[in-house]
Amino acid sequence: MKFHVLTLFPDMVLGALSASVVGRAIEKGLIGVEAVDIRGFTLEKHGRVDDYPYGGGAGMLMQAQPVYDAYRHVCGDRKLRTVYLTPQGKPFSQKMAEEFSKEEELVLLCGHYEGIDERVLEEVVTDFVSIGDYVLTGGELAAMVMIDAISRLVPGVLNNEESAEAESFHNDLLEYPQYTRPYLWHGKAVPQVLLSGNHRDVAAWRLARSEERTRDARPDLFKRYCKKKQAIEDLSRRKREHIHIMEALKRGKAELLFQDGANIMVYHRECGVILMTAQDPASGEEMLEALRKDLSKGKVPFKAAWYVVSQDFLALRLQETFQARPCGTFLQACYTRREPLPVRHKDIRRLSGEGPLFLAKWEEAWKRDGIGPTDLSKAGALYGAYLDGHLAGLIGQGKDGGMGFLYVEEGSRRQGVASSLEAYLINRQLDWGWTPYCQVPAGNVPALALQEKLGLYLSGGMLQWLRGVDS
Ligand code: ADE
Repeated sequence: MKFHVLTLFPDMVLGALSASVVGRAIEKGLIGVEAVDIRGFTLEKHGRVDDYPYGGGAGMLMQAQPVYDAYRHVCGDRKLRTVYLTPQGKPFSQKMAEEFSKEEELVLLCGHYEGIDERVLEEVVTDFVSIGDYVLTGGELAAMVMIDAISRLVPGVLNNEESAEAESFHNDLLEYPQYTRPYLWHGKAVPQVLLSGNHRDVAAWRLARSEERTRDARPDLFKRYCKKKQAIEDLSRRKREHIHIMEALKRGKAELLFQDGANIMVYHRECGVILMTAQDPASGEEMLEALRKDLSKGKVPFKAAWYVVSQDFLALRLQETFQARPCGTFLQACYTRREPLPVRHKDIRRLSGEGPLFLAKWEEAWKRDGIGPTDLSKAGALYGAYLDGHLAGLIGQGKDGGMGFLYVEEGSRRQGVASSLEAYLINRQLDWGWTPYCQVPAGNVPALALQEKLGLYLSGGMLQWLRGVDS
């Protein structure tokens, strides 16, 4: 990912970002930061870039011309996503950081004095962002805050590659208190439970402290957290049918769009999928009405929409009233135990370049069978099994959070490679505190048998995937 910072103080930006985690990421080439000196583009004598505001008022404004030329220098004829850092912008959030981290390049425009001539902002800015309700002397610190928060989401930037990926439900909660050695300091001992070695007790204690802190310091967050918690509880009565929605909420990847008891609709931000479940057709109708409103308000981008529904009547109504197209019926399988599984084949690694190539074979096979969804871009992370040094099979963790994309090349079948791959991914997800699950095409008997062999439980009902009109 590359950041282009348009600024009057390039040294300030480059200096601050050269240290610590971001500095190392720049050194490793995982991210790039270019600071472009706006002053270098002024046509005025003495390097002047500001002037008095028309209509009077305090202070000076940055002129349009140098800002525009600096922007053109970076973008040429391209239209890059361009953020203007301003207290008048939308509040910056983790969600925004996630969204921006998907861009390949980002332009950050830093203002000074009393701001920038509105006309150039109209021409180049796509997003107005504020880092908080206070006024800084310029946008540089705000740009650096954004760069820091976005960079840590870029794969490979954090030491533990997956630690950002593994962040969860606890996103909605403030951090619990932490302690390190010595055990006794200023007469204060570390809470006993943290020394117990009992992971379950430790996790429960931490969750309780997080909830307390959030309730006291951030009632707004706590309200949202409670709603999600309630939704998860309501869904847990039919866990196998609903594990995909429960996990999306727990892992902090989904917005609740509709909630009325166990009638629930969420929007999965990561993959643009709407997940729906309704107890009866009347509740389903209400849900669809809410969806219509969300779409018209732009809360859900219609273009990106796929739908995953747990009931036939929802699938039918989506086809009738949203022109959605059905593209597959699945059984859901979930692993509800906490014990890791044995993994026979040891050489399993996260894939990058070779994965998609290999997966193309997989996609061909799926297309031949006429079952979807077969969109490669849905594979979030891919893990490959190597036999004697060559890639024999792979499994993916979909962007929707489910395991999938399991594929073993023909010459390596019947040796337990598929079992090893799935067991490996299950163990990984258990480490992150997730409940592993996958969706298996209803007629795929060998895949269903594999789930049962590994100890996953199959849902009674079917899930249906449908494509939205424009997707
Ligand atoms: N520039 C000045 N104050 C700012 C703020 N709070 N957020 C973003 N940019 C700014």
